Amino acid sequence: MKLPIDLRMIFFIPLFLTITPAYSKFHIHSEYCLNDVGNYTTGSNYDENLIDLLPNLIDKASLSTFDNHTVGQGIDQTYGLYMCRGDLDGQQCHDCVEAASKTIVEKCPTQKEALVWYQECMVRYANRPIYSHQEQNQMSYTWSTQNVSDPMKFGKLISKMMDGLIAQAAYNSSRRGYATDQGELTLFENVYAFAQCTPDILGNRCERCLRVAFRNMGACCGTARVSMEMYLPSCWLRYDQAPFIGEFSNENDDAPSTSTSSSTTSGPPTMDLNFPNDTPVVLPSPPSASNQLTSLKTYLLVMTLCVSSLVMAW
Ligand SMILES: *[C@@H]1O[C@H](CO)[C@@H](O)[C@H](O)[C@H]1NC(C)=O
Ligand SMILES: *[C@@H]1O[C@H](CO)[C@@H](O)[C@H](O)[C@H]1NC(C)=O
Ligand SMILES: *[C@@H]1O[C@H](CO)[C@@H](O)[C@H](O)[C@H]1NC(C)=O
Ligand SMILES: *[C@@H]1O[C@H](CO)[C@@H](O)[C@H](O)[C@H]1NC(C)=O
Repeated sequence: MKLPIDLRMIFFIPLFLTITPAYSKFHIHSEYCLNDVGNYTTGSNYDENLIDLLPNLIDKASLSTFDNHTVGQGIDQTYGLYMCRGDLDGQQCHDCVEAASKTIVEKCPTQKEALVWYQECMVRYANRPIYSHQEQNQMSYTWSTQNVSDPMKFGKLISKMMDGLIAQAAYNSSRRGYATDQGELTLFENVYAFAQCTPDILGNRCERCLRVAFRNMGACCGTARVSMEMYLPSCWLRYDQAPFIGEFSNENDDAPSTSTSSSTTSGPPTMDLNFPNDTPVVLPSPPSASNQLTSLKTYLLVMTLCVSSLVMAW
């Protein structure tokens, strides 16, 4: 059927309206406020530095998925950086960093060092240089309580996919630290995954960070869960049996999206873990909770890890 041009335009309007709001939907994962490195007060130099720093990061986010900025002098010098997931465009990255900047000062109102992870971006600042430092001593992760149908096969597939992702993210410079992959578990089950490092640590530091992240996925749940997300300050890793990034689906939907419902914190907000060697550590199993829309209830743990032994083992 051929429609007059102005009539056809009408069809585009609702399409446009339904896509646009999706860009402002970002999903907070967790925040980390460091209580032992110093606090600042309202009106102090550090506070003013932050008031300068955050809008600067938000501006930069329109132009690049990763950047840093430094404000001030001497003991009050304030270092900030952000990263957006590699599939976000300039507008999305800007909006996510804006949302995260609001969140970080709300959640960590006095701490000189803080970090907030969204599924789509991260904002952090500190009173020490953080650019080009590989950091993996904080870790936040969520997993689905639902198990995969064939854990053995799944484990093999996911390990293979992770090796490929790590190689691409760490060593393929044209990717700027971001790599995605999808694999087929059965005819009806796919696995989607992405890995990302901050582009200031590409190479073997990126690989090291991602391996620590992947090893801790195994330590948590033995890679038997249908979805898992791992966020470290310097690298992120996520897999899911449902497509969670626009580029995974063939549909014309490139808004930042997520398939699993966002997590709620249960259990201790912080915990210390020791991973003496490669032996998987069994974490306390999350309490059962009511089913959500997707029936995949995920849980969150923000953990301080003692991972130096892992690094040396690697
Ligand atoms: C900073 O403030 C937090 C509470 O807001 C407190 O627990 C912590 O001990 C303080 N840290 C220092 C170094 O004063
Ligand atoms: C980013 O950090 C590096 C290292 O601290 C510094 O040399 C560079 O000037 C920073 N960039 C900005 C825009 O602050
Ligand atoms: C998933 O597998 C783990 C470990 O094998 C088991 O402890 C847990 O009960 C299983 N969860 C479900 C929902 O079947
Ligand atoms: C590096 O990544 C690009 C896509 O960004 C891809 O086309 C190319 O094949 C990759 N190179 C290697 C050696 O894997």
